[in-house]
Amino acid sequence: MCGIAGYIGKKNAAELLLKSIKNLEYRGYDSVGMVTLSEGKISMKKGRGKVSEVDSKVDFSSLPGTMGIAHTRWATHGKPSERNAHPHISASGKIAIVHNGIIENYLELKESLQEYEFKSETDSEILAHLIDKHYSGNLKDAVLKAIAQLNGTYAICVMHQDSRELVVARNGSPLALGIGEGENFIGSDVSAFVEHTKKVIYLEDFQVASIKENSVEIYDGKGNPVSMETKTIDWDVEKAQKQGYKHFMLKEIHEQPQVVRDSISIEIPELEKPRKIFIVACGTAGYAGLTGKYLLEKYTRIPVEVVYASEFRYSDPIICPGDLFIAISQSGETADTLAALRLAKEKGAKTLGIINVQESTIAREAGTVIYTRAGPEIGVASTKAFISQLVVLYKLAEKLSGTEISLTSIPDKIQGILNQEGKIQEIAKKYFRVYNFLYIGRNFNFPIALEGALKLKEISYIHAEGYASGEMKHGPIALVSDEVPTVAIAPRDSVYPKMVSNMQEIKARNGKVISVATEGDSEIPEHSTDTLYIPETREELYPLLTVIPLQLLAYYIADMRECDVDKPRNLAKSVTVE
Ligand code: G6P
Repeated sequence: MCGIAGYIGKKNAAELLLKSIKNLEYRGYDSVGMVTLSEGKISMKKGRGKVSEVDSKVDFSSLPGTMGIAHTRWATHGKPSERNAHPHISASGKIAIVHNGIIENYLELKESLQEYEFKSETDSEILAHLIDKHYSGNLKDAVLKAIAQLNGTYAICVMHQDSRELVVARNGSPLALGIGEGENFIGSDVSAFVEHTKKVIYLEDFQVASIKENSVEIYDGKGNPVSMETKTIDWDVEKAQKQGYKHFMLKEIHEQPQVVRDSISIEIPELEKPRKIFIVACGTAGYAGLTGKYLLEKYTRIPVEVVYASEFRYSDPIICPGDLFIAISQSGETADTLAALRLAKEKGAKTLGIINVQESTIAREAGTVIYTRAGPEIGVASTKAFISQLVVLYKLAEKLSGTEISLTSIPDKIQGILNQEGKIQEIAKKYFRVYNFLYIGRNFNFPIALEGALKLKEISYIHAEGYASGEMKHGPIALVSDEVPTVAIAPRDSVYPKMVSNMQEIKARNGKVISVATEGDSEIPEHSTDTLYIPETREELYPLLTVIPLQLLAYYIADMRECDVDKPRNLAKSVTVE
């Protein structure tokens, strides 16, 4: 959460940083700010709102100079406002900082900084004053002294008006250094600078770096120099553009046939058969994990427990050597998933990461990593990353069970569903003003009901609940009325007759039913108000198909409600604070 960027070189820093924070905006977008240094003077502009909104008011590019730092915020301490926006400047006016993370002992530190006048309600501002207090001519040393006093998580980028360098430090929040020729870059991730350089150093926890235009010096937390490997990243800049689509989310939904094709060839490493599998993740990745439970248990008969990362980490889990812990994460940076992984390692379990972003923290820390092949996913609501996580889970089930699971027909089948977009738009038009939705499914499609509801609520702000169909009678059916439609996932599978009964019960209570059914099923429309068809496939492969119309339905409903589909309110794509 929060995106930070820095530049030092010969080019106009403000123009470059503006592009960087636009690329990092998926990390948070409630306020934005920038500081540059020119002729020994710090200049700052900031404001509340998304990058383009604030830029149209303040014109960031007019900031002078060839070095600077910038920030796009997702508020933790202090509401979104101009004064709480980063950068924060020390009382002396000489030091500017941007911060991503949470300083847990900021109140205690604030007490010790009573001589300084605080201008914001943030935890981050203390960093500017604390570094100022420790400064006696060497910025890196001042940062080292300051971070020794911090509890919490941080990625920080600091500048001083008298020193032509940027100093960065991290603990628990990501930070990448882009190594250029006569210029260097800083970003919360590589999207901040990948147009300029593909050479990257990933800073590790407690490291501090002093970055000048021709040098990068890295130190451990005690100030001893360390050398870090420079990696060359493989990142297709074109893939991170909208390519004519109205939103990234729509583009990413349409990329899914290709994502499945690319993912089918992923190699699964040799793994010992575990006693038990834990799948731990957050959000959409968690629902991929829940689908994985049904699959892995069916094929391998190994018990699988799926736990939200935020629960796993505080539950004193019974996980032992001999167990396999699987972390699923698009970003590879989700704070709770990372903490859960570290706990599982501590307890001696084997760990596997199913991760999309290369060289992310979870990818680097997991015992084994399998990279999904979704490519850059920019829309905050996850779509193509989900489908690639599912493919990896099918392949894992295949590997652990020794049974072939052929997915080769799936990409064309997904394309067939995408071709019915017009029909999905018509249905969205009928329902986009509704306030509540229910989603139901059974067995393999129960997690898809949860995922469908999550997609709708996160981008359209319509209240939506996903349920196991069999649970309807235990509460949710009380909500059914002609104003609360139910999306019923009812392909021709072993639980089909049960789904039909559930749909009839809803219809009998005046509820409208939007069904997802197998092509050629003429019975389902009799129990539905509207029907979306998907091609026939094997029972356990249906999740790869049933999720597609639900993604499109959520997308079109949100778009018709004029919501900011790619940047839904209050959310961020990469949740690096707990
Ligand atoms: C956020 C995103 C979701 C994502 C979840 C987990 O909530 O908005 O789309 O599913 O984090 O993120 P991860 O990067 O760990 O998959």
